[in-house]
Amino acid sequence: MPAISSSAPGKCILLGEHSVVYHRPAIAIPVTQVRAHTVITPRPTAAPGEIRIQAPDIDMEADLDDLPSDHPLLRAVQVVLNELHPVQVPAFLLRITSTIPVAAGLGSSAAVSVSIIRAVSTFLGQPLPDEKVSDLAYQVEKLQHGNPSGVDNTVVSYAQPVVFQRGMPFEHLIIAQPFTLVIADSGKSSPTAQVVEDVRRQWEKSPSQYERIFDEIAALVNRAKTVLVRGPLLELGGLLSRNHEWLQQIKVSCPELDQLVSTALASGALGAKLSGGGRGGNVIALVIPQNAEDIAEALRSAGAVRTIITTVGSNR
Ligand code: PMV
Repeated sequence: MPAISSSAPGKCILLGEHSVVYHRPAIAIPVTQVRAHTVITPRPTAAPGEIRIQAPDIDMEADLDDLPSDHPLLRAVQVVLNELHPVQVPAFLLRITSTIPVAAGLGSSAAVSVSIIRAVSTFLGQPLPDEKVSDLAYQVEKLQHGNPSGVDNTVVSYAQPVVFQRGMPFEHLIIAQPFTLVIADSGKSSPTAQVVEDVRRQWEKSPSQYERIFDEIAALVNRAKTVLVRGPLLELGGLLSRNHEWLQQIKVSCPELDQLVSTALASGALGAKLSGGGRGGNVIALVIPQNAEDIAEALRSAGAVRTIITTVGSNR
């Protein structure tokens, strides 16, 4: 049996985070500059079923059986075994590495799961289609995030820009004209599950106010979808900035993210917003490509610990 390797990209949410949990649409794109990688090597001298996991980024090496039952790496392997029911599992070593910052809204956990699910199913001789990979990654996401919308596992599994709405088939977004984003990491990590839970509590207190805000965000997402498919892209900047204002209203921004958004706009970005769960993690800024480096530098001077410049729309 040869060694198997597999990888999955990071992601960012262009518009619609949080409201997507409440069945409104969101647009998400893969971020290919950061990735999770899995390599599986057979262990011909070990007994069948013996699975060893190495995750050097988190300083971990263990037998799979020794991990706690709710460990996400264990769950990512288990969901594949439960799906495929192999008669016998040959012993293997699974090594997972990732360049995606953790708890930063760039889809680290979904990418790790997707890459493991692909590698294990391929190693067992039954590579799974994207749809199944996404379903299984969603099962693992549920364990970590409680009530995930499913947008992360979808965009990471298909590695295409998507319009995602809970309970509906997702749409591949064919983008009319490539556009450039600067993604800036505030360096503040913030667990998405906690922020999603806080939003839920607020929504329970003032359901009609929150439903109205989610509808406003949905209108921005729908307009952005039209703009992305038909152009002109200039309008997209304003849509991103207005989405940020609504995210401030539902209290998922924080001073660090607001500062990065203001810096991006003051440096010439066409629009900017937080991306992902919020209260930390990343902001994204829509930029003219020639200005991308300068805006990235301004964001680093304003406190961003890292920046990524990505161009979206070469998916045809
Ligand atoms: O995983 P993050 O931080 O990119 O956040 C996901 C986006 C949310 O809408 C906040 C949660 C969800 O499940 O969609």
